[in-house]
This record gives sequence, structure tokens and C-alpha cells, in this order.
Amino acid sequence: MSDVLRMAIVDPNDSSRSITKNLLLGIDSIWLEAECSRYEFFSDVLTQTNPDIAVVAIDSDPQRGLALVAQITNEFPECNPLVVSGSQEGSVILQAMRNGAKEFLAYPLQIDDFVSALDRIRNTVLGSSSGGKARGSRVIAIAGASGGVGCTSLAINLACVLAQNQKNTVTAIDLDTALGDADVWLDIIPDYTIQDVAENITRLDYSLLKRSLTQHDSGAFLLPRPVHLDDRPAITPDEFQRVVALLKATFTHLIVDVSKSFNPLDMAAIESADMTLLVTQLDLPCLRNVVRLMQFLDERDLGEKIRVVVNRIGLEDSQISLNKALETIGREVYWKIPNDYASMVESRNNGVPLMTQAPRAKVTKSIEQLAAQIDNAPVLMESAKEEEKPRKGKSLFSFLGSGSR
Ligand SMILES: Nc1ncnc2c1ncn2[C@@H]1O[C@H](COP(=O)(O)OP(=O)(O)OP(=O)(O)O)[C@@H](O)[C@H]1O
Ligand SMILES: [Mg+2]
Repeated sequence: MSDVLRMAIVDPNDSSRSITKNLLLGIDSIWLEAECSRYEFFSDVLTQTNPDIAVVAIDSDPQRGLALVAQITNEFPECNPLVVSGSQEGSVILQAMRNGAKEFLAYPLQIDDFVSALDRIRNTVLGSSSGGKARGSRVIAIAGASGGVGCTSLAINLACVLAQNQKNTVTAIDLDTALGDADVWLDIIPDYTIQDVAENITRLDYSLLKRSLTQHDSGAFLLPRPVHLDDRPAITPDEFQRVVALLKATFTHLIVDVSKSFNPLDMAAIESADMTLLVTQLDLPCLRNVVRLMQFLDERDLGEKIRVVVNRIGLEDSQISLNKALETIGREVYWKIPNDYASMVESRNNGVPLMTQAPRAKVTKSIEQLAAQIDNAPVLMESAKEEEKPRKGKSLFSFLGSGSR
């Protein structure tokens, strides 16, 4: 569901506004960004929320309502006004259209009429079946070749660095629903978790979803794992995909820390992702798993999206050189992150991201450069930055013969 339209409503009448709002909440392809009860405040709301569609209910004061439609047309050319009214008068409808309304709907509102109006706006005005304005929202999954390779530390630090760019709005999602610890890295005690979001999925609107996210000082939001372990899944793959679609309508980056089980939920995240960073270290079990995972992902046509990130470069007990590792995995390495246990552990124990804890450390700079690369490059990068090229065709364990460090 990639075609979510973001919407804001203005209606000074509380009861009709609530009826319209409830109707909108029943439509999957809508994200209700904001509601407003005063015509005079609505342009501020539009400035702040930048929706695709502005629903203007004009009956409380038709003259002001129609003037507002003209104002939206002039001042917010990317926002499409949709007028609702109990009036069937031709002169009112004509005036609304002259003032720039893209659609005019009469009370009582019917869900089918609303959906058809949205489709028309989507097709004729926004000009694509893929929905609203291209906001360049990208989903980045962080997967690991083994436990403890550094996925959560990368996910959290990447999210915090990306959030430093004022153009970005970033959410990290902890999809390790059993043992995830993203909240620890950010020293956040969340009120809501991914489970609350899943349980309320059918009545999820913008304000409810945003309340379910906890914002860190860096600006990044976090959707944490459930508080309690449970036999039942906290969120199904379908529910997760709906949450992602909604979040994509308003966030520029979703960083998903997937679990190491590659279960259907993790796979839903990797499928939704524009890019998956597969984190590994330079040891035999990890590299063997990279090969197995790449095979598994290639079989599912997901291999193209995978970028191998080697973490903890320089770790003394790494037995395998980078060149040997490259031969083994038969892939380019997209990024290398240096080993810096002291900075990492201090950062985690203090619940403070690296950019604050150790701003000058090489590991911090490396993650900042990775964030810049992700921010600037097209979603699917054709060529990785890495200088080393792998030589294919070597057997999995060929590095064991020589060159160990
Ligand atoms: N570049 C690095 N240099 C040094 N230590 C690191 C580095 N990256 C991660 N670590 C350390 O490795 C440990 C595991 O990191 P992290 O929790 O991010 O891994 P993970 O893959 O999310 O683990 P899990 O499988 O439990 O989810 C932490 O103690 C962290 O501080
Ligand atoms: Mg983790």
C-alpha cells in the first residue's frame, strides 16, 4: 500500500468534523495529518503539515470557507482543496471550483464518493498511480549475519545522524520483538510500543500513530518492541506493512532493526525496504552466514537491495582479512565501520548516541559518512563505494588456507 494521501481537515462544526474524520479513518489510503476547527488557523496548519489534500467544510461560514479555498490555491499550490458542503446550489459549487477546489462533495458524505474523489485527485492532479507527492521516503532495514554484530548500534546511530538534517524526519523501528534493546541505546522509556500500534491498526490515524512514537533529543523517533514477551506475535507482517505505509507518508527515513531469525515479519521488513544493510564481522561464522543469507535473499529476488556492511574493522581477534572475506562472499563491501568498543559501550551505557558521546571518534565519522551517502544517493545504488572488488568463484572456506591475521 504505497498510495497513502496525507490530508488535513478544517471544519468549525465539531459534530460534522467528527463525522468526516470517522469516515476518513475508514479509508486505508488516507493519513489524517491534522484537523482544525478555525478557518483562520488553517493556513498555519498547512504550513506545518504540508498535506496532499485539504478538506474544507464550508457550511459554518460559506464566504470565509470559499475564500480559504482560494487562499490555499494561491499559497499552497501542491495542496489540493476538496470542499464539503450541504449546499447543492450551483452558484456555491461554481464558486468553489473557480477558487480552485479539485472536488466538491455533498453531505451526507458517502465513503464511496470520497474514495472516488480521492482517486480522481490522485490520477489527474497528482498524476500517478503511486499516490502523493514523491517525498523521497526510504526504508532501510538493518539485518545481521549473526547475533551481536552491531545492528542495533548502527540502526540507532544512523537514525540519530540522519535526523540532524533538518529536511529529514526519521523513525527507528525495533523489530526484534523478543529481545530488542533499541530503547536502551536511546535511554527512552516508551509509553507505547509496536504492539499498541498493531492492536489499533484499524483506527490508526496520524495523531495516534505519532503519539505511539517516542522522540529522542536528536529528533529521531522510536517505535520500540513490546514490553512483555508473549506467545502471540506482537505484529503480523500485514499489519507491519500498513504501519510502514502510513509512516512513509510522513517520515523521510524509516530505519528498521530486524531480528536475526529472518522470520516472516523480518522478511516483510526486508521486502518493504529500499535497501537492506547486512551487517557482518570478519569471522568465519559471520561470513558463512553472509553467503547463506545472500543465497536465501537472491532466491527471493531481494539480493539487489542488499548492501554488506563490515563492522568492527580492526578488531584484533578478527581472523580473516578483508580481501579473503571479499573472495568468500563474492560481493562488494558497501561500507566498513571501524572497531571502537570503548566509544560504543559508553554510548550504550549512557543511552546517548555516538554523535554526542564521541563526536570525533572514527566510528562516529564513519556512520556520519554512511548517513550522508544514504541521504544523497538514489534509493537503489548501482555501484557501491568500496574500492575492493570481489573475485567470484572461490570456495566458501578458501580463506582458511592462507592469509589469516
Ligand atoms: N563498531 C563497533 N566497535 C566496537 N564495538 C561495537 C561496534 N559495533 C557494535 N559494537 C558492540 O557490539 C555489541 C553488540 O552490538 P549491537 O547490540 O548493536 O548488536 P546487534 O547485532 O544488534 O545484537 P543482537 O543480535 O543482540 O540484536 C555492543 O556491545 C556494541 O557496543
Ligand atoms: Mg540488536
